[in-house]
Amino acid sequence: MSTVQASAPHPHTGYKSFELGAFSFSRDEYFVTISWPAREAKLSHTMPVDAFLKALMRDVSWGFFYGWVNFDAVLGTRNRYGSVELYAGRYNDGYHDWGLDYVETFETPHILDTFKAVLADWTNAGFDPFAAPAETGTTVFGKKNGDNIAAIERNRETCRRMPGLPNDASLRSDDNGYPINRAFADVDQDEPEVQAEPGFENEVHAINLFKYLSRSDVTWNPSVTSVCRNSLFCPTTEEHMLPIIHGNDRVEWFIQLSDQITWQVGDKETGRPRARVIMNPGDVAAMPADIRHQGFSPKRAMLLVWENATPGLPDRYDSGELSPYPIKI
Ligand code: PHB
Ligand code: FE
Repeated sequence: MSTVQASAPHPHTGYKSFELGAFSFSRDEYFVTISWPAREAKLSHTMPVDAFLKALMRDVSWGFFYGWVNFDAVLGTRNRYGSVELYAGRYNDGYHDWGLDYVETFETPHILDTFKAVLADWTNAGFDPFAAPAETGTTVFGKKNGDNIAAIERNRETCRRMPGLPNDASLRSDDNGYPINRAFADVDQDEPEVQAEPGFENEVHAINLFKYLSRSDVTWNPSVTSVCRNSLFCPTTEEHMLPIIHGNDRVEWFIQLSDQITWQVGDKETGRPRARVIMNPGDVAAMPADIRHQGFSPKRAMLLVWENATPGLPDRYDSGELSPYPIKI
């Protein structure tokens, strides 16, 4: 039985409203309204519907990701790996210091089902929450008009070891529906030539990662392209802005592969500004475990995100066993 609590479609706009615990979510032609109980009253918050759906899409397709997914400075989720905390104002001093914030914990399947139902009902035909603004329609606005189930059910691409190996993720080509993106028309498409010693033919593998990325049809959606125990290379192509403000529960490394991305980095707990990092091709940055960050990319760029999937890391940072910085200067 579904645990999703949805209203009948609104008679004027056609959209359903949803309840999740003590939170409620509704949308109109331009905005989403989120409300929650605070002290003896009910507070509410407004987000543009396009920004909300792009953030919701990431939360759903990444399974709540590592740590905190802030939709904006007020609303977000914290992954407890098995359950998820949904919060409003908890990591924003203006709300938190006055007792106006609210946090509720849900079993992961329950919040996931609800978020999927919201995404499905509020995404109109022609709008792709993974696309860059210049590559999708403006049908996200206005009254309910069809749906785009194929776009919102796209899975994050992950490999077992590396794309292109037998029984592993496929490489991208014109033939399987991945043409070169307009921003990467100049990217060399030759695959590397591998000359293995006799007997090692099945143990050596190489791909043209630039070619692979030039054919990505999504933005701000890292795909896993190499798995070495708990070390995951998650390259991605970035145009416009990261639709969430990610709060880290571990250190992440960024390697800028092309073009330029500017990162705004703030304190994880309060959001107070900590740094702006402007990354050019070849630049490497470590994002500490105690920050939140959001990237801005004026032209589609290639970025390698290096994730550490070692189990138990969040507790080791929380307890102070591990420093939030990977290196001491
Ligand atoms: C991140 O939070 O580190 C992140 C998420 C998605 C991206 C890039 C970076 O596309
Ligand atoms: Fe991050």
